[in-house]
Amino acid sequence: MKIGIDKIGFYTPHMYVDMNKLAVARDVEPEKFTIGIGQSQMSVAPVTQDSVTLAANAALEIIDDEDRAKIDFVIFGSESGIDHSKSGAVYVHRLLGLNPNARAVEVKQACYAATAGIQMAKGHIALNPESKVLVLGTDIARYGLNTSGESTQGAGAVAMIISANPRIMELEKHNVYLTNDIMDFWRPIYSDKAFVDGKFSNEQYILFFNKVWEVYKEKSGLELTDMEAICFHLPYTKMGLKALRTILDEAPEDIRERLLENYQISTTYNRNVGNIYTGSLYLSLLSLLENKKLSDGSRIGMFSYGSGAVGEFFTGALQPNYRDYLHIEGHQKLFNSRKEVSVEEYEIIFEETLPADGSDMELDISKDPATIVLSGTLDNKRQYVNKNV
Ligand code: HMG
Repeated sequence: MKIGIDKIGFYTPHMYVDMNKLAVARDVEPEKFTIGIGQSQMSVAPVTQDSVTLAANAALEIIDDEDRAKIDFVIFGSESGIDHSKSGAVYVHRLLGLNPNARAVEVKQACYAATAGIQMAKGHIALNPESKVLVLGTDIARYGLNTSGESTQGAGAVAMIISANPRIMELEKHNVYLTNDIMDFWRPIYSDKAFVDGKFSNEQYILFFNKVWEVYKEKSGLELTDMEAICFHLPYTKMGLKALRTILDEAPEDIRERLLENYQISTTYNRNVGNIYTGSLYLSLLSLLENKKLSDGSRIGMFSYGSGAVGEFFTGALQPNYRDYLHIEGHQKLFNSRKEVSVEEYEIIFEETLPADGSDMELDISKDPATIVLSGTLDNKRQYVNKNV
């Protein structure tokens, strides 16, 4: 039985900052951000969006009544969770009106969590072929104003339905994963911003990639030439390129060119959104699938990395007519309808956070065009609104 990705939805907030302008404001050469880091725009989340609303908006794009009835497992992958106890999955389950006979949980391991969710979903479908699983990768990346990580922030979510007989991508047999306890990036529970050892994190990302790739080749008997493309977790678009370059000499010139060309296409959306942590790898996959027509059966390599750290390499095979099941126009509209904010406006929005002392707050939701928004806090409870209900 084939198991894999049947649908993919995506959402990013309606505002962005131009990286050239951010560079000028930070007194660095714009090329450092646009070429050295490889980012053109960075999504900015208003206070009316959090990891729950981003995930729910991404899922709203793909869910129909059949999915509502058949989804019996919601997996919320995030490192910007809103509660230490209750999972974001339960809120999303209610906001989408899903079948009550479902499991709903949150998983965490930095940017790796959505991959863990997908692999758990695969096992669930193998045991329950009639069911469907909703996997969410949703985050707001925050390092702080004027920090070295600032140019690698972003916000957004990817929602995927995993099922039998998937229409977009079959998840193939071999996976290789690796865990090592390192401090390259972390966020203690008292902080709303990440701590990072930037250079070390870059090195570890590449080291993890090289290690899982070597074992993957042994285990699968496959080579670089068997990959139509490799999609990477993209904290910023230059990062995956650095990793890809370390193995390119394993392939002849024509394959190298193909991999490099497809890599660039796979970074199109990420370059304009920034790091969305758990969803970044899947945003890169979406970027590749929506911006190039690949042949049916093409094998796509996927490298997932979550600081701390866990890495995994696995592959998927594209299904016949997979492009018919994508939401290319909707995503173009989403990008085209975003509004640029100045660096000064972004700085103000960045500092607008919910009260940390439990007091109530009512938010103005009229400026947020998203369907699902956070309207405030009341009695220590976040208040969510689905404008269509
Ligand atoms: P930095 O110190 O600001 O930048 O930190 P830099 O000095 O290393 O420069 C960056 C690049 O720009 C360099 O290229 C420069 O040469 C180039 P490289 O040598 O690396 O190829 N550059 C220029 N290029 C063209 N024209 C110019 C110019 N000037 C400089 N004029 C860093 C950069 C990424 C470390 C920082 O932004 C940071 O700490 N970011 C956050 C951490 C991160 O993203 N790490 C990535 C790996 S870990 C990961 O992916 C997991 C993560 O997503 C978290 C999770 O799992 O949850 C982060």
